[in-house]
Amino acid sequence: MRRMIVLGIETSCDDTGIALYCAKNGLLAHTLFSQVDTHRLYGGVVPELAARDHTRKVIPLVDAVLSQAGIKGSDVGLVAYTRGPGLAGALLAGAAVARSLAFGWRVPALGVHHMEGHLLAALLDADIDEVEFPFVALLVSGGHTQLVDVRGVGDYRILGKTLDDAVGEAFDKTAKMLGLEYPGGPIIERLAKQGSSTRYKFPRPMTDRPGCDFSFSGLKTFALNTVLRWKESNLLDEQTIADVAFAFQNAAVETLTIKCKRALEKTGYQRLIIAGGVGANETLRSRLGEMATDRGAKLLYPRMEFCTDNGAMIAYAGYLRASEATAAKQGFDMQPRWSMEELAPPVTGQAS
Ligand code: KG4
Ligand code: ZN
Repeated sequence: MRRMIVLGIETSCDDTGIALYCAKNGLLAHTLFSQVDTHRLYGGVVPELAARDHTRKVIPLVDAVLSQAGIKGSDVGLVAYTRGPGLAGALLAGAAVARSLAFGWRVPALGVHHMEGHLLAALLDADIDEVEFPFVALLVSGGHTQLVDVRGVGDYRILGKTLDDAVGEAFDKTAKMLGLEYPGGPIIERLAKQGSSTRYKFPRPMTDRPGCDFSFSGLKTFALNTVLRWKESNLLDEQTIADVAFAFQNAAVETLTIKCKRALEKTGYQRLIIAGGVGANETLRSRLGEMATDRGAKLLYPRMEFCTDNGAMIAYAGYLRASEATAAKQGFDMQPRWSMEELAPPVTGQAS
């Protein structure tokens, strides 16, 4: 394989993320186009519009990262793209462009797992050979909420997962019922800073049951029932919205913290990683940090910009799995539903 520069293409949902990762110098360039203004009008992601926008944006963004890094397409040695899980049309848009570029450049293409990308984003700035496995990973995004026992790259066992809504989805839906914009997570976080810590107390779902599974749909319904009477009488004022935001965030964060503590106890591990969009939540980071410190454990997380969807995590996951890439396979393959437990460690170690 040529000098190993990996082009990463992320198109699983509503962000077009493109990046270049180099074996020798790490991350060379990255860029992101967020479709949030398109989907905001509809209060959530419209799959067909997402796919169309990715098709329009991928090539110009690839050109942008190549020029940022000062290299040519022919310098790229591997094209990595998100194969799944995600929205089928959005995945297809990325897979089609990735495989076409790889075909044109005569280099291999490799479809990578979106959640593995999120997980590995926390290690992007570290030397992978010095990362100490095993650890527990809390993966929290708009589509997933999982606790994973990570024994090595590709060696994953799910310790617990949500039985209904993902925590990011619960943030977004609660925000929507409060009349806030999409995506709701960052807005709830901002408003919660003005909220009362005593006015409402929301439940901590499933914390009274053993195990590491989650359920967030009841918490969302609890928030709905709390605001319904204010909404009906048109008296949902700014302070009430902030108080509900506080109570919701506090309950979600405490629930996640209790389950993470349980996962550390169960595995006996001393390292915890948070990744995925909700991992950008500073209250969550600080509570998990306190819990980890109390146990003498260490908390790791990605750079803030790499918590939410991005191309860097896909380029990096592709780099770690480069040995599996094949130029021969040309199907536009994608896998909208895909468990991390189906993955295996990279075949023959990493490429140089
Ligand atoms: O990982 P991500 O960008 O996309 C998916 O793979 O789903 O995660 C997006 C989710 C959204 O639900 C968004 O509201 C949530 O992450 N999110 C946050 C914050 N930033 C993004 N939730 C809470 N607090 C935040 N600061
Ligand atoms: Zn994601």
